[in-house]
Amino acid sequence: MFNPEKTMIELADGNKMPMLGFGTYLINDQENMDKVIKAAFENGYRLFDTAQLYRNEAVLGNSLKKLGIPRRQIFITDKVTEMNQGYDLTIQSTEFSLQQMGLEYFDLLLVHWPIAKKFYDTWRAFEELKKRGEVKSIGVSNFTQSHLELLKQKANEMPVVNQIETHPFLRQQPMIEFDQKNKIVTQAWSPLGRGAVLNNPMLEKIAKHNNKSVAQIILVWDIARKVAIIPKSSNPSRIKENSQLDFKLSEDELGMIDLLDKRQRTGNEPELVYELGKQY
Ligand code: A2P
Repeated sequence: MFNPEKTMIELADGNKMPMLGFGTYLINDQENMDKVIKAAFENGYRLFDTAQLYRNEAVLGNSLKKLGIPRRQIFITDKVTEMNQGYDLTIQSTEFSLQQMGLEYFDLLLVHWPIAKKFYDTWRAFEELKKRGEVKSIGVSNFTQSHLELLKQKANEMPVVNQIETHPFLRQQPMIEFDQKNKIVTQAWSPLGRGAVLNNPMLEKIAKHNNKSVAQIILVWDIARKVAIIPKSSNPSRIKENSQLDFKLSEDELGMIDLLDKRQRTGNEPELVYELGKQY
């Protein structure tokens, strides 16, 4: 039974993370943020995902404060941007992010993209931030299997989450299996392919058959493959729709969605970001 408020996935460090979260990329003004955060909270979302790159940490922090939610009832993820990688800058920028949001700790901190130059120093800072209690869990985003294998060579602790782009047009099955083997939870960013997958005729057919929306079909497919999700929407009725995921798809339906993969990215290619040192 899926309940957005209660359905958690256990991380390798023993902490628990909600399966469903709310992505805040491109939501920047206070009025809009207040509206979406209120709608998300009322519909059971407890995980809120931001990044230094989004430049909305203070605005998100304000919206959460206005709701007056006890801190332990919510789960906040932040990400360290390329510009702030390296040991000292990772620590300083994370402390600044905490200050911006009015928080004492993040539930989860992610390396936003792997970059070759600062690779191990950044991770050393993550381990230190966790030791200090400023971050409860540490993870990565946009890491490929080879980045994780590189990290393994020097890490004292491995990431517990890998947040990657994955949706029906970019299934990422080998990556997800590798994460699972290494006790890393895969979390999908842009689970709806930034809207690109929503008009697919096969998904529309499955949606009609189940009397659900295409977005709901995709998110339930993710839950079935144990991938955590952070869909974003600036529309309260779609925010609600994306949290109503208490239904199952048949094995055949899940299999048909698996076949839609065409390795189509909407975002950057991680190997290139790694080489270039920044998103392009
Ligand atoms: P909107 O903000 O107007 O709802 P992703 O999370 O994959 O990046 O996708 C985000 C995009 O998908 C946004 O453009 C959002 O538009 C749209 N979207 C989110 N939820 C739904 C939904 N339930 N139905 C249709 N479009 C949606």
